[in-house]
Amino acid sequence: MPRRRRGCRKSRRGRRLGEGRQGLSGRLREGLGRAAKHPRARALLDDPKVFKAVRYPLVGAQKRTKELVRRELGAGPEDSVLDVCCGTGDFAGVVDGPYLGVDLNERFVGLAKERYAGNSSKRFEVMDATRMRLDAGSFDRAMIVNAMHHFDDDLNRGILAELSRVVRERIVIVDAIPDPEGWLSRLVIQSDRGDHVRPLPKQLGLIAEQLNIERHYTFESGFIVQVMFVCSPMGER
Ligand SMILES: C[S@@+](CC[C@H](N)C(=O)[O-])C[C@H]1O[C@@H](n2cnc3c(N)ncnc32)[C@H](O)[C@@H]1O
Repeated sequence: MPRRRRGCRKSRRGRRLGEGRQGLSGRLREGLGRAAKHPRARALLDDPKVFKAVRYPLVGAQKRTKELVRRELGAGPEDSVLDVCCGTGDFAGVVDGPYLGVDLNERFVGLAKERYAGNSSKRFEVMDATRMRLDAGSFDRAMIVNAMHHFDDDLNRGILAELSRVVRERIVIVDAIPDPEGWLSRLVIQSDRGDHVRPLPKQLGLIAEQLNIERHYTFESGFIVQVMFVCSPMGER
């Protein structure tokens, strides 16, 4: 019987050591990233209750993000606000005046409607953000939070151009960056379902094609690092 060569053991051990250099958190991030992008996981996360249960431990209530979105929108009680890709309506509460949240996921919109039942200033509609049926200049302000990384560049161009057409004054965009410091922040972003998390310069370039960027900055909200873009529509209205 052939004797096992020591070299083989060494190389097997070497591979394990190599993996070790990547680190437990790196492997965990990769594994979670793959799991989150599996078609069955994606379908499961379309259920609003599952989505919220999985998301909450990772991003919490997004208290800081909400404070900043409210501040940057600067919407008065008379100002109308459009929330593109509103999900289950988590950001509806940052708006005091007339609000319309649109999202493609019927079940998310259903839950958002339940949450705000009886509040006539909050409306929600199932609508594809890439084909919005809204009149030009029909909203004072708009937000699109945690959504750009779900769309490829061309779809984003379409959405941003639509926002420039539909919104009169200000558009607030919040999204993620792919390379935050800290393993937990990277874990959160790698386990996100979005396939298009862009480096900051890429996001800036994409947005600047369609909107005027007044300012931008990164901030921490719970375990995540996000980037805020405060924009206005192209051209004076
Ligand atoms: C990460 S969630 C963000 C939800 C919400 N803005 C928030 O931060 O709580 C992304 C949302 O984009 C929605 N979405 C994806 N593609 C869409 C499309 N083509 N039109 C409208 N909504 C879309 C999803 O249904 C999901 O609710």
